[in-house]
Amino acid sequence: MLNCHSMIENMPARPYHEAIEILIAEHPGLRAQMENIYIKSKLIYTGDTNNLSDKLSELNNMLVNFITDIEPHADKEEGALFEALAKLIGREGGPISVMEAEHNTAKKLMRRFQANYGEWINSIDGEKAKLLSGDLMETMNILFDHFTKEEEILFPLAENLLTKAEKDALIPIMASY
Ligand SMILES: [Fe+2]
Ligand SMILES: [Fe+2]
Repeated sequence: MLNCHSMIENMPARPYHEAIEILIAEHPGLRAQMENIYIKSKLIYTGDTNNLSDKLSELNNMLVNFITDIEPHADKEEGALFEALAKLIGREGGPISVMEAEHNTAKKLMRRFQANYGEWINSIDGEKAKLLSGDLMETMNILFDHFTKEEEILFPLAENLLTKAEKDALIPIMASY
């Protein structure tokens, strides 16, 4: 359902309501971090094996910073926007369950990287480095696609479907952190 634009017959004009614009404004900074993590992961994945433990430690630090920034963003979406939309369009079998599943898959992959990194960093080899960097490439690919779906489908849908009062009610959560 999220792969087509049929749900958005009339693209609303920007700027959207402030509650949604707050989420949109957080995407470029997160995307820049995602691009850096993807590029670094790909170098390792494709065989740049000099100083592997240093490179992976740097990647791990980038991921820690990224998680610090994306967690509150995901919490705002899950705790406020997705809930408000789910009340109108339901959850199962629709865009909200797709978006939540993508959040969960990304979180699972990042947690797996962190667990494996902790276990493997002192005995790192090319094969383990490939598994670690591959997990992050997959995570970033999911999130690149996810951000685009939010910007092109979910946020316009929210702008169109939620009333001004419903959107106003989201602002305290959106602006709280
Ligand atoms: Fe999201
Ligand atoms: Fe988002």
